[in-house]
This record gives sequence, structure tokens and C-alpha cells, in this order.
Amino acid sequence: MTDENDNRVDATPEEPVTDAVSAAEPTLDDGAEPDIVPGEAPPLVEGAESEREIEVAVGEKLVEVKNLTIKFGGLTALDDVSFDIRRGEILGLIGPNGAGKTTCFNAMTGVYRPTSGDVLLEGTSVKGRKQHQITRMGLARTFQNIRLFGEMTALENVVVGLDARHRTSVPGALIRSPRHIREERSSVDRAMALLDFVGIAQHAQKRSRDLSYGSQRRLEIARALATDPKLLCLDEPAAGFNPAEKEDLMALIRSIRDEGYTVLLIEHDMKLVMGVTDRIVVLEFGRKIADDLPATIRNDPRVIAAYLGVPEDDAA
Ligand SMILES: Nc1ncnc2c1ncn2[C@@H]1O[C@H](COP(=O)(O)OP(=O)(O)OP(=O)(O)O)[C@@H](O)[C@H]1O
Ligand SMILES: [Mg+2]
Repeated sequence: MTDENDNRVDATPEEPVTDAVSAAEPTLDDGAEPDIVPGEAPPLVEGAESEREIEVAVGEKLVEVKNLTIKFGGLTALDDVSFDIRRGEILGLIGPNGAGKTTCFNAMTGVYRPTSGDVLLEGTSVKGRKQHQITRMGLARTFQNIRLFGEMTALENVVVGLDARHRTSVPGALIRSPRHIREERSSVDRAMALLDFVGIAQHAQKRSRDLSYGSQRRLEIARALATDPKLLCLDEPAAGFNPAEKEDLMALIRSIRDEGYTVLLIEHDMKLVMGVTDRIVVLEFGRKIADDLPATIRNDPRVIAAYLGVPEDDAA
């Protein structure tokens, strides 16, 4: 596993950089903390229903990754990678260490600006948009290295994601108008429902830094869900888990899909990936080497060779 790459700044910009992003830091958004943008919470628990329309067009193209290339100086981390993500599926993104998986997430979520190529969400390009704008479009992610507001409680971490949805004005909030109080209460209810959904409701009032590693991973997922994403990108959510914890997490990911979300999952554990995904894209040295059903991927000589580090002929 490589370190989280989000703070490195040497990717090549495709086009002149405008806005607040300087030419010296072409691909980074400005905040070190993850962007949290409001959305409708999913209808997980009675009393916490969202106004989200459940997408019925399962199987339609939701995201198109088109000829995505990311160069860091002389290193091509992603090389002309294209794949689609269909609404309602769990798509696995796998490959050996350094294959470009996290880089792909970073390009999709606005952390890096592609050297060339594009990412379309429901036909709309994310190009040139900042991380929070892309989150608002419906693309949420968790990080390979957990990023939470450590001093805030678990509940507050999720509420922050829902808070900005409130329609009350600042004066309304200051005088605690009835509307503000109502919205505040519904935010807390929804956040509790999300914590319950990911299985950590009992830790709602604990500071997130005091939570166990496994609970922090789940909290990150709850916070990402709070933005009500069209696509939820999970970067090694089960890293560091024991087999039983991994099984539990996979069950959670399945139930997230069953709630109507689409999931893109980076995961190293092959057994786990095979068990939970509907389809798998395989990267090796920044290139896509396979894109198929799990059963086919499992027997693909190129994939086996990539993982075992042996020549294809031997793997076959
Ligand atoms: N900001 C950066 N600057 C320079 N090189 C980078 C940067 N980000 C990623 N890389 C390099 O790009 C390649 C792909 O890295 P990436 O983190 O995407 O791999 P990964 O598939 O997520 O690997 P892992 O499974 O270890 O997390 C690696 O060689 C990495 O060192
Ligand atoms: Mg990675």
C-alpha cells in the first residue's frame, strides 16, 4: 500500500489553470480536509426519510471514465484508462500496489486534474470542478488513509455533511427560529440513522479520534453517505480488518447497494472483491488490463500474472 497521495502536487495540468488553483498546484483543491456537501439522506430509518428519488434506471451508464491519463513528471500513473460504471452496480477496481487505483479516484473526485481524458457523471464532465462541487454533483469518496474531524463526535462528523442543506438564514439560526430547530433536529435524526445503518450508533457521542479503527472506517462511510451520492467511491475500506470484520463490511457494502446507491470499490483482498462486486476493472502499471465479471477475472491469465508477478504464459 502506498501512502495517501492527495497532498502531492506534481501532476500535469491539461489546460491553463484558472480559479483559485495555482499553476504550481494544478491538481489540488484548496482544503486539506475532505469536502462535505449537503444532500438528501437515504431513507434508512423511519423518521429519517429523504426526498431523494430512488433511481429506477438500474443498469444505465452513470459514470464514464474516458481515456484518463495522469502524469506525474515522467511517471504515467494512469495511461488512457476508460471504463463505465452502471447505475446500481458494485464495481471493483483492483490491481497491484501502485497500479493507479487511488490516482483514478483522485482524478474522478477533483483532487488531481487529468493530464488528458475526462470523467462524466450522468453525461456531465467533472473537468475543472473543485472537490466540493464534484461532491455536490453526486460523487462521494472515502480515503485510503482515514480523514475525519478528530475532535468532533461521530454524530457531528455526519451532521456536518447534512447541515448545509438547511434552508434557514443565519439570523434564523442565531435566534433559533422554529424552522431552524426543526431542521437541526431532523439533521441529528438523519445522522443517527446513518450511524445506525453503518453499525456504530452506540458511538455517536464519542470523539471520532477515540473510535476504534474499524468504527472510524464505518464513520467515513456514513459521512460520505450523508452527501447522498450517486456514486460512492470506497478506497480500501477493509484495509487492516480481520476476516470476520471484512465479511461484515462487505455485508454493509451490499446493503448500501441495495439502498439504491452505486459503489466503486478499491480492495486488495481478492476473495472479498469476488464475493461482493458485480463487475471488476483491473489496472496494472496505470493501464486497464481487464474489465469483466468476477468469475471471468478470476481466471484471466493477465490478471493472475499481474498479481503473482509472473509472466502471463506461466500464469496460464
Ligand atoms: N502525487 C503524486 N506524485 C508522484 N507520484 C504519484 C502521485 N500520486 C501517485 N503517484 C504514483 O502513481 C502510481 C500510482 O499510485 P496509486 O496511489 O494510484 O496506486 P494504487 O493502485 O492506489 O496503489 P496501492 O494499492 O498501493 O494503494 C505510483 O507509482 C505512485 O507512486
Ligand atoms: Mg491506493
